[in-house]
Amino acid sequence: MKVLVTGGAGFIGSHLVDRLIELEHQVVIVDDLSHGKREYINPKARFYNVDIRSKDLEKIFSEEKPEVVFHEAAQISVPKSLDNPIMDAEINIIGTINLLECSKKHNVRKIIYPASAAIFGEPEYLPIDEKHPLNMISGYGITKHTVEHYLQVYSVLYGIEYTVLRYANVYGPRQDSTGEGGVVSIFCERMLEGQKIYIFGDGEQTRDFVYVKDVVDANILAMNNLKNDIFNVCTNSKISVNNLFDLISSIIDDSLKPIYGEERHGDIRHSYMTFEKIRNKGNWEPKYSLEEGIKETINFYKGL
Ligand SMILES: NC(=O)c1ccc[n+]([C@@H]2O[C@H](COP(=O)([O-])OP(=O)(O)OC[C@H]3O[C@@H](n4cnc5c(N)ncnc54)[C@H](O)[C@@H]3O)[C@@H](O)[C@H]2O)c1
Repeated sequence: MKVLVTGGAGFIGSHLVDRLIELEHQVVIVDDLSHGKREYINPKARFYNVDIRSKDLEKIFSEEKPEVVFHEAAQISVPKSLDNPIMDAEINIIGTINLLECSKKHNVRKIIYPASAAIFGEPEYLPIDEKHPLNMISGYGITKHTVEHYLQVYSVLYGIEYTVLRYANVYGPRQDSTGEGGVVSIFCERMLEGQKIYIFGDGEQTRDFVYVKDVVDANILAMNNLKNDIFNVCTNSKISVNNLFDLISSIIDDSLKPIYGEERHGDIRHSYMTFEKIRNKGNWEPKYSLEEGIKETINFYKGL
């Protein structure tokens, strides 16, 4: 099948591309390399260094005629979405509408889209299911959720199928460990380099960490299943930042101690999500334990 992956040079997108190529699909990548890396681009994919907001996107659809689109490209930083909400909306909403218009014009059958736990804000109950009320507390949360509405409208009006996958905290090899990227990769890389590690607040805040290869499995499942619906992709379990630190340091160097700093304004205290719906409708469940996923991530940062 011919598939197009936006953001295919990024963390999740590049793992997805690798799997699609293993499965012998023809893969086209659109990525402007604003956050992705050229070295993560699978050489068997056709790569276009193009911004999803650009008019050139239409030429790509016209030439490539993909049947399925995985739309991973996004501005992913919550602080940037607060500092520059216009830029956030231009990429995550206007860029996506550009993609939807191209998909409509060139008869894309299906779009698979990652939303985020950021749309729930401080949870009203745990674990979070797909019916949990939405309470966005960042521009990023708003833009990720807005696209869910557009997908629904394009499916009703133009018959383009969609699946929304609401990822919990995804972690694994290739995740950006600079800035405010994933805490797992930040801990792994800094511990391996012998650098100080800072924890915001008391470290008792909890999160649901799902391994990137499990997330890829859910995307592959969605190519031909889970039509016109929304699913959590998560582990239904939680770990505190302190316990995560202990787990990673027990593998790298158990003499390490974190430095505690101010709690971050707007940080959610506890969050984890249930995957019961995608298990019932698609037989998906995470295969990787946190220990297994972290060991693979550490090996990546060790260059193994
Ligand atoms: N990582 C997580 O924990 C997580 C959780 C929930 C949802 N998501 C979503 O999953 C998707 C992938 O996230 P990721 O963690 O792999 O991020 P990432 O930054 O590694 O990947 C995003 C890719 O999109 C590209 N990109 C950004 N703006 C672009 C533009 N205007 N035109 C073309 N390409 C552009 C970047 O260069 C990058 O390669 C995003 O949509 C994100 O919102 C991620």
